[in-house]
Amino acid sequence: MTAARYLGQPLLRREDEPLLRGAGRYLDDLRLAGTLHLAVVRSPFAHARLLEVDTAEAAAAPGVALVLTGADVAGMVAPPKSRPDRRVPPRPLLATDRVLMVGDPVAVVVADTPARARDAADLVFPDYDPLPVVADPETATDQPPIHPDYDDNVAFDRSGGDRAAVDALPGPIVVEGSVAHPRVVPAPLEPRGALAIWHDGDLTLYLGTQAPALMADELAWALDLPKERIRIVVPDMGGAFGSKFDLAEEEMLVIEAARRLGVPVKWVETRREHFLTIGHGRAQRHAYKAVADADGRLQGLWVESLVDVGARKRYLSGPPYTPRIGTGNYVVPAYAWRQLGVFTNLAPTGIYRGAGRPEATLTIERVIDRVARATGVDPAEVRRRNFVTEFPYESPGGAVFDTGDYATALDLLLEAADYAGLRARQREQRAAGRLPGIGLCAYVEATAFERFGRAIVDVDAVGRVRVRVGTLDHGQGHRTTFAQIVADQLGLTPDDIDVAQGDTADIPFGFGTSGSRSAAHGGSAARGGAQDVAAKAARIAAHLLEAAPDDIVLTGGRAEVAGSPGSGIPWVEVAAAAHDPARLPPGEEPGLSADHQFDSGGITFPFGMHLATVEVEADTGVVTLDQVWAVDDCGTVINPMIAAGQRHGGLAQGIGQALTEEVVYDGDGNLLTSSFLDYLLPTAAQLPPLRLLGTVTPSPQNPLGAKGVAEAGAIGIPPAIVNAVVDALEPFGVDHLDLPLRPERVWRAIHG
Ligand code: CDP
Repeated sequence: MTAARYLGQPLLRREDEPLLRGAGRYLDDLRLAGTLHLAVVRSPFAHARLLEVDTAEAAAAPGVALVLTGADVAGMVAPPKSRPDRRVPPRPLLATDRVLMVGDPVAVVVADTPARARDAADLVFPDYDPLPVVADPETATDQPPIHPDYDDNVAFDRSGGDRAAVDALPGPIVVEGSVAHPRVVPAPLEPRGALAIWHDGDLTLYLGTQAPALMADELAWALDLPKERIRIVVPDMGGAFGSKFDLAEEEMLVIEAARRLGVPVKWVETRREHFLTIGHGRAQRHAYKAVADADGRLQGLWVESLVDVGARKRYLSGPPYTPRIGTGNYVVPAYAWRQLGVFTNLAPTGIYRGAGRPEATLTIERVIDRVARATGVDPAEVRRRNFVTEFPYESPGGAVFDTGDYATALDLLLEAADYAGLRARQREQRAAGRLPGIGLCAYVEATAFERFGRAIVDVDAVGRVRVRVGTLDHGQGHRTTFAQIVADQLGLTPDDIDVAQGDTADIPFGFGTSGSRSAAHGGSAARGGAQDVAAKAARIAAHLLEAAPDDIVLTGGRAEVAGSPGSGIPWVEVAAAAHDPARLPPGEEPGLSADHQFDSGGITFPFGMHLATVEVEADTGVVTLDQVWAVDDCGTVINPMIAAGQRHGGLAQGIGQALTEEVVYDGDGNLLTSSFLDYLLPTAAQLPPLRLLGTVTPSPQNPLGAKGVAEAGAIGIPPAIVNAVVDALEPFGVDHLDLPLRPERVWRAIHG
């Protein structure tokens, strides 16, 4: 028996102190004697035949130890495993006969310093014969296939529901349109990187990855090596947002170069390489038709998506999640969807913050606002009238929403932001010739996909607790939140608990961290392991105290007898007894450990309501974001300070996506936004105060009641901002704008 003390407390992050002191050890900080450095020669063409690669000068350059071209690594591929039946083309490590995108690896140079490797890479001279480039996903299916093994550029074509049934609905309200979801770059603070060392045929790979155990499985396949001979170690990591759930060509090349040279080899991605080759996010266009009654109640919706897959498939991608929540927080009696994925000669698209859910949300939230305008019913009221109210709820896209209470969250938002007052002020400002706008967004998202979590909890003979988890913190604060969870179960403090992760020699299990699963699954596994340990500790303490196990309470660092505060024995004594066979109850095994597997019932569905107010300057098209309000519900909150930090980050990313961020290619597939000078991330100066509120609707899918929180802002705020800007431009008859809302686009909408 224990009482919750730390769960729900805004504890400061235990991991921050060393990171803020500069004592973190990121991949590029790792220094191993004799390490050589790898640089990649990349294609300047988006599509070309590769004729010959002249490496003579590079090989003779100072400090160069190795040059590899496609011929040297022919047959070697990076995951995912090629699946011709599902059109997953192979990912060769280096191009042999063809390059498929600007930035495709063509050769690598390994030298004694990173600078010498890069200089020598400039001395590799590939010969190309340019081919026609598929740079526009809209026309990709009309172009010759970029993968010679396939007869067209279709990567997938899947659908559900009955579009004809939606088309047959009589109305009276019908809205049709399209919504662009521009390509964006994950841009974590720390780019990718790898450091490989071979020893007697065993590989140790230091890798910035979100999923070390899964990547060890992938590597075992790609290298045809038993998994036991592969150890992946993840150092401190400066973020990922989905972009490091992959084993890329470069990382495989580091491994191969280290194998050939017999010394450690390292590669750290440059920012330009990140822009060129990382899995970009979004890259969809949705066409839709929605039918509603005169009161704004939705009757039907179809959404047809064009998904730009890029040149190759990454390990994971977002589109499968889009149709599942394509009807948003609303009851839509008739729903149909189609997703056409196309190959292009552009960087592959992968998972990025929310992956698939931001796209679903932006489209349905544009639909709702258009229905509101067509019916004359206030956008907040249209949302309320259509809300799902009974849970569990099976969406027509095939998701089962665990819990929700959308109306309460909307009420809280409208009241906190003084929605009625905002509308009154908007009328006054409009009368004075200004262009103020108010935008709403309701979202429901899906988090915690893979059902399982596992944790091992060990208590040593002096009572120190070590929890090994299969999740992978890369900025989220798991060392703090998991310690809070475990401390409560054992009656200890978070400082008594060490949380270990990221070394497959120690922790060969786990799905890592993606899709906001860590709190729900990792946290629940840690809790279960701690409970198993607590039960054994209670049996041991009961034996020592001559009490019944059920009467033992673990609290304040002691095992006490219920009802007698201050009684009993210190935790360290329980731990010592656990390791001393002479002091154990009869039949009890020595040691104090538990290996706990957690199986959730299914996915969790966090939700929220966001509101943005903007003012548009008619002469310039500049959008000023005035107010941001976010009501988010992630079930039970483990650490409100950390959850708020996650929400801030997501909101900043969503604001960037709404206002400035966009990957731009020219018609030849050249990347025009390959640095932070051209690709505009928002800075703190562009962010208004972020006003956070919340409701708590615990999930029944895990004993903590937790749902994921990390992606909320990136999903909820972009639709609120675009709805606000379209609202501001209502006097000009503007009923839609695509992201990002850069001044030129907004100005053109105003000035026709
Ligand atoms: O899987 P990932 O850590 O990226 O996402 P998450 O599960 O949404 O958790 C992000 C951070 O917020 C973690 O430190 C969680 O422990 C914390 N969190 C929380 O305090 N309460 C929740 N209900 C969900 C997450």
